Amino acid sequence: MSGCFRIAAPAKLNLGLEIVGKRADGYHDLVTILQTIAPPDDDLELAAATDVRLRIDDPELGGPDNLALQALHRLRTDARITTGAALRLTKRIPIAAGLGGASSDAASALLAARALWNLDTPDARLAAIAGRLGSDVPFFLIGGAALAEGRGTELTPLPSPPVVFVVVAPHATIPRKTPTLYAALDSADYSSGAAVREQAARLCAGNSLDPTLLVNAFARPLYALRPDLAEIPAIMRRAGAMHPAISGAGPAHVAPFIDPERAKWVATTLRAAVGHVARIFVAHPAPGAQPRRIR
Ligand code: C5P
Repeated sequence: MSGCFRIAAPAKLNLGLEIVGKRADGYHDLVTILQTIAPPDDDLELAAATDVRLRIDDPELGGPDNLALQALHRLRTDARITTGAALRLTKRIPIAAGLGGASSDAASALLAARALWNLDTPDARLAAIAGRLGSDVPFFLIGGAALAEGRGTELTPLPSPPVVFVVVAPHATIPRKTPTLYAALDSADYSSGAAVREQAARLCAGNSLDPTLLVNAFARPLYALRPDLAEIPAIMRRAGAMHPAISGAGPAHVAPFIDPERAKWVATTLRAAVGHVARIFVAHPAPGAQPRRIR
């Protein structure tokens, strides 16, 4: 048994997120634009092994519920094989920040394992496995920019906007963040999806991002749960990031910039102001993950 693949799992941003309503299956219908970015990305190395195992640099994330580990088990079961894989995972994407790290790791694990195990699993079948792992996982199989609808798994690729992003990821831990914030939504937080669809139409027509359309349905419940986080948009504006928005269910915030130099300057100003309570970086739109053989 031999072979080893390496893959860089990118973070994502939500460029607007509207919740349209609650579904009969307990999930919510949403309309959002997803964009893979770099930096940061997680580093995955997958080598042939007799069983499925994970070595990760953050011991708190190394349990059996790790989504990348689950992805390997699901694909192995689906393909009816007994070959294993040893996954080495180095985390660089802030954890549970709204930047999609766990979902991206899972999608990258699926892509790398399909290559390592030499499977002929079609993309659509891989996407179905990804959708069972989590609503954001199918997007990371393609990456780039996409309009996501339904539970988040109905994807329409879009051109990436010609901007860079200043991202502020506060060191804030919110227990069971995603289910808690979905459960905290009320019908006043719902909207038609028109703002995000208008943004998607702009990108399709080759126009740049309209920052006034970066709405996020989680703003009210997030700031109600954690009033300290409600200060972030004002702090970002004071530093020169005029259109801050939440990514995912937060707590990361993002602001787009046409001029990369200006973005760097604003990031430096923000690091001086809140660098002790948040990670701040400048990110570019990036393509989706691609496994490459290293041995
Ligand atoms: O799909 P995923 O496992 O990431 O979702 C985690 C939780 O977030 C779900 O159990 C559900 O409570 C909520 N969710 C939702 N509607 C979505 C996506 C997630 O209600 N479209």
